[in-house]
Amino acid sequence: MDRRSGAGADAGAAGRQGRLGVGIVAVTSPLPGDGLRRLAGVHQVRMHPTGSPVSGDELAAFAAGADALVTLLADRVDARVFAACPGLRIVANVAVGYNNIDADAARAAGVWVTNTPDVLTEATADLTWALILAVTRRVVEGDRVLRGGGFTGWRPDFMLGAGLQERVLGIVGMGRIGRAVARRAAGFGVRVRYHDRVPVAPEHAAGAAFVAGLDELLAGADILSLHTPATPDTRHLLDARRLHLLPRGAYVVNTSRGEVVDEAALVAALEDGHLGGAGLDVYEREPAVHPGLLGRSDVVLLPHLGSATLTARVAMADVAIENVLAALAGRTPPTPVVTPPPPR
Ligand code: DGY
Repeated sequence: MDRRSGAGADAGAAGRQGRLGVGIVAVTSPLPGDGLRRLAGVHQVRMHPTGSPVSGDELAAFAAGADALVTLLADRVDARVFAACPGLRIVANVAVGYNNIDADAARAAGVWVTNTPDVLTEATADLTWALILAVTRRVVEGDRVLRGGGFTGWRPDFMLGAGLQERVLGIVGMGRIGRAVARRAAGFGVRVRYHDRVPVAPEHAAGAAFVAGLDELLAGADILSLHTPATPDTRHLLDARRLHLLPRGAYVVNTSRGEVVDEAALVAALEDGHLGGAGLDVYEREPAVHPGLLGRSDVVLLPHLGSATLTARVAMADVAIENVLAALAGRTPPTPVVTPPPPR
């Protein structure tokens, strides 16, 4: 039965919401903390033998018959999974982003989708600033130069970078993480402007100025930091045209999702000297990185470490487990991003 089709989807949703008790929870990866142990005390936990990433038919086969599924951002959850799991109630993603899950298919199948907001905000904002500082002050490049024997003594013109005072930081996406990045800017003397669909309440803006047009924001940003989710609308939001709207010598920092930037266009804008550098934590074809980035000394490349503190990762796992426990107990999970329609 195609779970996207009307009657089948309704029957599935009613079935999913009608059964309580001990459930089967398929989990694609071990998680930090003791959340999985707590979960195993209540439900039957099925761990993937090799771990994330798991996608498509393989994920469907692994999850078949499960009542709940816990996924990482590298797992791709599509209609095949919902078809294989007629009793599935929830996909609990251990990430704030959930672009790896087909939300329409989940909704049609009557399945909750949850994410892990808030608990990773500060960690990700910290890492954004680590990239801003690293790329403008050539921190990683300097480390490499020193280890390669290139530090032969202090010189007034050695490895000069860009100071931050009075520079303009442009933030695209003033959600939780964008706002946390803006809050940190005051200490560096940076002026902050942001673009979003609508302005945030002044008490959340941390003094940042709203710019209604994205192109206008770009034209005045010495450093651009991306904090927008990956959706069909934001794919390649930063394309060749927009990259060249940035002032010459500007820096691009991305800790959101790789798909938001046209990576080939970014490489071209670095190669033609338009950009001063880039600090990246995420990639368009993650974990693959555009080869044009790898050899450059004006880019800092991190392996998706935005939320990588023990505190944040344990908290993310805990939020995901709480979501599963709630959904399997017939309650509304704490952090839903897809709410199934009520059964008819
Ligand atoms: C998320 O949760 O979406 C982050 O990218 C993980 O670091």
